[in-house]
Amino acid sequence: MLSISAIDQYYGESHTLWDLTLDVPEGSCMCLMGRNGVGKTTLLKSIMGLIPIREGSIKMDGEDISTAKAEVRAELGIGYVPQGREIFPLLTVEENLKTGLRAASKMGVKTVPEQIYEIFPVLKQMLNRRGGDLSGGQQQQLAIGRALVLNPKLLILDEPTEGIQPNIVSEIGDVIMRLNRSKGIPDPKVEPVKGEVYQTISKINKEMGVTILIVEQKLPFARRVMDQFCILERGRNVATGKMSDLNEQIVKQYLTV
Ligand SMILES: Nc1ncnc2c1ncn2[C@@H]1O[C@H](COP(=O)(O)OP(=O)(O)OP(=O)(O)O)[C@@H](O)[C@H]1O
Ligand SMILES: [Mg+2]
Repeated sequence: MLSISAIDQYYGESHTLWDLTLDVPEGSCMCLMGRNGVGKTTLLKSIMGLIPIREGSIKMDGEDISTAKAEVRAELGIGYVPQGREIFPLLTVEENLKTGLRAASKMGVKTVPEQIYEIFPVLKQMLNRRGGDLSGGQQQQLAIGRALVLNPKLLILDEPTEGIQPNIVSEIGDVIMRLNRSKGIPDPKVEPVKGEVYQTISKINKEMGVTILIVEQKLPFARRVMDQFCILERGRNVATGKMSDLNEQIVKQYLTV
């Protein structure tokens, strides 16, 4: 689905991504890993068109988007949840969600799909509250909801669990698994999820089948939710594979601080 081929990226003269190649197959849930400062966010911003690449190419469903504007990439079905969430604190929850529609105004989607509120009921309850008054976990749900309003085929998330309390982390994991399904849907008998929410989400999930590329540092969470990994080290792709093949040696070499 997403095909990144030998890209190089620079901040001024500072060479940050080096000859980086990565394929994100349709339907996968890929975890982008690596220590702080290795270029994870830079790669996601390059995919989204927020910063330019100097060499190489990025293709979405075979279409070359290497120099396309971010808006065009959103129209082609890429949704983005930035690191640190970047919601608008003074806008209401509803207004924040509508800014997601503007990311690709040409698509002419005018209203927030009801599905978003089925995935995140808390957003419906808080529609008129200011974004800045939400808890960290609720703000993260808002940021994910905003990225889903255009019904993306590929959802890119940059450390969605950073600074969030454990029960919300696990809820976000459940939502990601239901959007994606490469790991199956968590069994409500094993992991207690409120029945009604579970049913609506699995319904949505059947309709969506979203491919996911996510930066995540929490290993147990990554192993539970994602099915593939890619590790960056100093701006290079140094290891990729199935999550089940991520062994202790690789973890020690590239991830342990
Ligand atoms: N706007 C910028 N201008 C110049 N250098 C930058 C800029 N943004 C990031 N960098 C540098 O590029 C490198 C990669 O940063 P990046 O934010 O992509 O890392 P990261 O892997 O996402 O780190 P973290 O895990 O801390 O989020 C770092 O050395 C960083 O200092
Ligand atoms: Mg980062």
